[in-house]
Amino acid sequence: VSTLTAGGPAVLEERRRIARELHDVVGHNVSLMVIAAQALGSGADGEARHLGDSIASLGREAMAELATALEQLRPEADPAEGAPRPMLAALPSLVERARGAGIAIELRIEGTPRPLPDEVDLPAYRIVQEALTNVIRHAHARHASVRVAYRPDAVGIEVLDDGIGPTSPLPGHGLRGMAERAALAGGALSYGPGDAGGFRVTALLPTG
Ligand SMILES: Nc1ncnc2c1ncn2[C@@H]1O[C@H](COP(=O)(O)OP(=O)(O)OP(=O)(O)O)[C@@H](O)[C@H]1O
Ligand SMILES: [Mg+2]
Repeated sequence: VSTLTAGGPAVLEERRRIARELHDVVGHNVSLMVIAAQALGSGADGEARHLGDSIASLGREAMAELATALEQLRPEADPAEGAPRPMLAALPSLVERARGAGIAIELRIEGTPRPLPDEVDLPAYRIVQEALTNVIRHAHARHASVRVAYRPDAVGIEVLDDGIGPTSPLPGHGLRGMAERAALAGGALSYGPGDAGGFRVTALLPTG
């Protein structure tokens, strides 16, 4: 029994409730956004068409990832069905999409990449994803770097930007979720100002 399917009846019912809410709230609105973006893209030329199409494709990707996450929340699901796919290997396309927001982002891989256990691969990817989302939303940065270091017994992550740095002392869902993901993987995450300003997130996740 994986940790994803552990828990008594109350826990299972709570997970079904969360799955329903996520599906109905996020799924509904994102689907409508995809349809609106498609209409926008097909009725426009040039940059507007490109933006419409890329909003639609980001939305479809979000819906596919939501479906996978919901499968895992539902304990009766076949565990193989919604199994997380190797994700850290998809970092280049995550970074490429973030560049579309107008920030120069460097991706550096140190050590020799190797397949990671799902319990490390998914959190590693999600931590970089949310850190980049925060750079785009909050940092006012021109440059950012993503560094992933494959060490013999761990994988290290650093996301650093040259923006305004921390302004709020309070973490939101993003930073709390990142720290929870790192802790669940047996690792640790920290965040704060970079040595030369900006904002830095680092995580170290043991790979066993
Ligand atoms: N790269 C960054 N540069 C500057 N400030 C940041 C950066 N990343 C996070 N912050 C600050 O930390 C706060 C908390 O981030 P967190 O991701 O937890 O929440 P959020 O992005 O505001 O909302 P959400 O819960 O949707 O992620 C942000 O509101 C912002 O003030
Ligand atoms: Mg955030």
